Amino acid sequence: MTTPKESLDKVTPLAVNDFDHIEYYVGNAKQAAYFYRYALGFDLVGYRGPETGVKDTASYALKQGSVRLVVTAALTPNHPVAEHVLKHGDGVHAVAFTTPNAKADYETAVARGAQSFQEPTVQEDEHGKVTVAAIHTYGDTVHRFIERENYSGAFLPGFREMNVPSPNAAGLGRIDHIVGNVGWNEMETWVSFYERVFGFFEFKHFDENDVSTEFTALRSKVMASPGLHIKMPINEPAEGRKRSQIEEYVDFYRSQGVQHVAISTGDIVKTVTQLKKNGIDFQTVPETYYDEIPSRIGEIKENIEDLKPLGILVDRDEHGYMLQIFTKPVEDRPTFFFEIIQRRGSESFGKGNFKALFESIERDQEARGTL
Ligand code: FE2
Repeated sequence: MTTPKESLDKVTPLAVNDFDHIEYYVGNAKQAAYFYRYALGFDLVGYRGPETGVKDTASYALKQGSVRLVVTAALTPNHPVAEHVLKHGDGVHAVAFTTPNAKADYETAVARGAQSFQEPTVQEDEHGKVTVAAIHTYGDTVHRFIERENYSGAFLPGFREMNVPSPNAAGLGRIDHIVGNVGWNEMETWVSFYERVFGFFEFKHFDENDVSTEFTALRSKVMASPGLHIKMPINEPAEGRKRSQIEEYVDFYRSQGVQHVAISTGDIVKTVTQLKKNGIDFQTVPETYYDEIPSRIGEIKENIEDLKPLGILVDRDEHGYMLQIFTKPVEDRPTFFFEIIQRRGSESFGKGNFKALFESIERDQEARGTL
């Protein structure tokens, strides 16, 4: 007889090997694309809409470094995109993974109990062929499997190619991790989903002893692909004296969903300086945070006096250190936000910064009357 642990070890991982793109469903894709181009520094690389033969949606594809985003809006009221926006506000609909075999990954995932969202379809244009399939994950979020080895276009077939560089490029490189917020006591369900369906493993975990302040708490487990290119932390609320930010998210998003996308940079001081100039708002920490850095982190290459005015946070683990900063939510509902991260060897997710960061989020919750 095999124990659950032994049978888990036999789950062959899917072939997915990296993040491919993120699709947001938004109320106004034209304006959202402007925000991503001018505020976050993305190039416009593609468009799909009525002018390209798609009558009910408009989409703009954006790229910076290896990060691909697409923003999509509905042109009619009864469209699934419109329903998504009505319920959730602007938010992440799809987290797509690149794979050498989309059909096999999809079929294996469904055989392992994942719910189908889109059967494998081959899409083609003058740049070649892409196979796309998708399954459901937490909330109304889906995972796409994208097989693009026979495709040379900038985004996906069906998009008219565009080449409009951002005037405000910020040096963003690649997606480091994508975090999902789930409801009370639901983290284990989704941890097991990524183990059982994807063959991912638990890379790190944090409980309320790591992630709490005087008032609020959460728990988190980081699920990762074998090659570590895909990291998907999952947060659930934990009991505290006041309302967890995870619960606030789920209340405003009206379901589980993607909380933040962390994007790496090779020079966080330069990146954050540019993003601030572009008008991006970040969470802030008290200046006293920086007094403890020499004793808590030790020697770093950056000048602390450069980090302080920008509010960049620093953490260390046994492998090295990392620098990170979080934007405020980028829509009116306090839901989705971005993290900017620079790793200098460290595999940390910023455990040493959780307290300072969450106190900053609590100040905003207090102002919204939702703490
Ligand atoms: Fe993060």
